[in-house]
Amino acid sequence: MALFSPALNVMMGAASKAARSLRRDFGEVENLQVSTKGPGDFVSQADIRAEKTIFEELSRARPGYGFLMEERGTVEGPDKSHRWIIDPLDGTTNFLHSIPIFAISIALEREGVLVAGVIYNPITDEMFVAERGTGAFLNNRRLRVSARSRMAEAVFTTGIPHQGRSEPNKFMRDMDTLLPQVAGIRRFGSAALDLAFVAAGRVDGYWERGLKAWDIAAGAVIVQEAGGMVSDIDGSDGYLNSGNIVAGNPSLFNDLQKQISR
Ligand code: 2AM
Ligand code: CA
Repeated sequence: MALFSPALNVMMGAASKAARSLRRDFGEVENLQVSTKGPGDFVSQADIRAEKTIFEELSRARPGYGFLMEERGTVEGPDKSHRWIIDPLDGTTNFLHSIPIFAISIALEREGVLVAGVIYNPITDEMFVAERGTGAFLNNRRLRVSARSRMAEAVFTTGIPHQGRSEPNKFMRDMDTLLPQVAGIRRFGSAALDLAFVAAGRVDGYWERGLKAWDIAAGAVIVQEAGGMVSDIDGSDGYLNSGNIVAGNPSLFNDLQKQISR
């Protein structure tokens, strides 16, 4: 059994509470697919509702901490050494299309260092968590990145640029480089879950460009605590600011990072 800190328990509680409304709303979205207006506005409301729940739960448990949230943006607190980084609904496009691959992502930063992360998929009821120095867990089971060391056996995840976002040319170049070498490349549509899957050893690595801090903050801690490596695509540690991230097991990480940064 894993013993979690009070802060991590607060984060897990907030994620569980927000998940209840997301689960209900996801059921409703399935009905809205056939309406002419579509579920767009409804999904924005679901997103905002979930973030409100998380914001209120965390504010009550830790008054004074700052926030960086996808919907509300930055909320400064008197406590300048702590900040929550929150994505209430990562994988919005999936949610909108009734694809059950989305997650709540909550990270805690202390003195500018990511110290804890929670990623929760309300549909599969999978709660990926980690605290710096004490390891990563999935529903109380310890997580470990995969041991695969050959490119020919590796499965990677990435994001596919869309509607002018990110850099399609770099994406095409990555595919040209990697497809001939690997066992497979997947695209799940949630950066948070992609990182959680690296931590769980389901995939061997992940990279994506043009993300925001809330997409990747929790996942970065969880991967590292599961024994994996995370960096900016350029090899630096600036991924939270740049939004360009690569992660992987220690055997394949360097090769992946080098090949996509060329
Ligand atoms: P979202 O679902 O919260 O929007 C998919 O490749 C990943 O990219 C998801 O984690 C998605 O988060 C994120 N994403 C999609 N559009 C984005 C944008 N305009 N800026 C930053 N991240 C985005
Ligand atoms: Ca997101």
